[in-house]
Amino acid sequence: MNSSTIASPDENEYFETHSAPPNLPELSRIVQGFVLRHHAAGRHVVLVSSGGTTVPLENQTVRFIDNFSAGTRGATSAEYFLEAGYAVVFLHRQFSLLPYSRHYSHSTNCFLDYLSEWGRIGEDGNQAGGDVVVHSKYRAQMLDVLRKYRRAKEGRTLLLLPFTTVTSYLFLLREVAMQMQMIGNGALFYLAAAVSDFFVPPDRMAEHKIQSGDLSGAPETEGAKPATQAAATTKETGAGKKLVIDLDPVPKFLKRLVEGWAPEAMIISFKLETDPNILLYKCRQALERYRHHLVIGNLLSTRKFEVVFVDKEGEQWIRVPEAKDGEEQIEIESLIIPEVVKRHEIVMSAKKDGPMAG
Ligand code: PMT
Repeated sequence: MNSSTIASPDENEYFETHSAPPNLPELSRIVQGFVLRHHAAGRHVVLVSSGGTTVPLENQTVRFIDNFSAGTRGATSAEYFLEAGYAVVFLHRQFSLLPYSRHYSHSTNCFLDYLSEWGRIGEDGNQAGGDVVVHSKYRAQMLDVLRKYRRAKEGRTLLLLPFTTVTSYLFLLREVAMQMQMIGNGALFYLAAAVSDFFVPPDRMAEHKIQSGDLSGAPETEGAKPATQAAATTKETGAGKKLVIDLDPVPKFLKRLVEGWAPEAMIISFKLETDPNILLYKCRQALERYRHHLVIGNLLSTRKFEVVFVDKEGEQWIRVPEAKDGEEQIEIESLIIPEVVKRHEIVMSAKKDGPMAG
C-alpha cells in the first residue's frame, strides 16, 4: 500500500516539509529483512516505541524541547515481549534506556557498583595484576540478565532503531509500519514513547543559536529569519529579555497508523496524565478518536504500580501486588505484557475466523 494515496493533507505537508533521516532507505531494508526473517520463523513482531521525542528550536540545534521519559516502560516491556517469543523492533530515543543494559545503566544503579576487584598479592606483598569480577551478591541476578541478553543477541530477535527528534521518530514509525504490513495482524504496535504534541515548522525555525544577549553592532547573520516569521523570538520586557516560542501542533499520527500505515495490525497506545480525574476520560476519548484496539492509561506518579487497560469492552486495572518483607517488588510490565499477548492472540484468531479468512 502506498501511504501517499491515503494520507491526509496535514500529514502530507508534515512529511513534505521535513527532511527524512538520511539513512532511512538503509534502515528500511534492515527492518524488512528483520520482519521477513522472523515471520518465516513463525514469530510475531512487535514495534515498541520508547522514550521522549525532542523538538529542536534551531536548525543548527543548540536548544530543544524535551520531556521526562527515560524509556523505562519501553525497555522493560521489550524484555518481556522477547521472553514471550516476539521479535522486537525497539524504536527508542537515542541514549535512553535499552533492554537488558537498563538494569545497570541508571544513575542510581551504576554498573561499577556491581563489580569488585579480585587480585593476586605479589611477593612484595602488593597487589600484582588483579581482575574484575561481579560481586557475589549480584551474580545470580546478573547471570540471569546476561543469559537473556545473549539469547536475544544470538537469535537476532531485537532490532534497535534510535531517534532523537519528533520528525525522525515519525519518519521511522511510518517506515517500520509499512514494512510490517506484510505480516498483517501478526504485527503489534506498542506505543509507549512520549511524542511531542507541538513543533517548530521548518519555515519558522531559526538557523543559528537563538541569542539572549545584545547583538547590535555584530555582523548580520546569514539565514536569519525576520522577527515576524521566527517561531522563537526574544523580546525586551524592561526586566530583561524574554524568549517567546510559538509552536504548531504536530498532526495526530496515530490516526494515520490505524487507518493507513498498519490497518491490519493490533495497535496499542499509551496515555499519560497527571490528573487522576481525567485519565479514564482521556483514554476513552483516544479510543473513540483513533478506533484502535487498546489504550493503556497511566498516571505520572503511579505508573510503575498501576495501569488501566481501556478497550471497547470496558476497563481493566492492572496493579502490582505489594511486596512481602524482603521480597523485591515485581515489575508491572511482567503483568502488562502477558495480558497484551493474550489480547493479541484473540485479535489474530478473530481475524482468522472472520469473513475475510481463506
Ligand atoms: O519512560 P518512562 O519513564 O517509563 O515513562 C513511560 C510513559 C509514562 C512515557 C509511558 O507509559 C506513556 O504513557 N507513554 C505515552 C505518553 C503520552 O501520553 O503520550 P501522548 O499523549 O503525547 O500520546 C498518546 C498517544 O498518541 C501515543 O501513543 C502517541 O504515539 C500518539 N501520538 C502522540 C502525538 C502525536 N502527534 N501523534 C500521535 O499519534
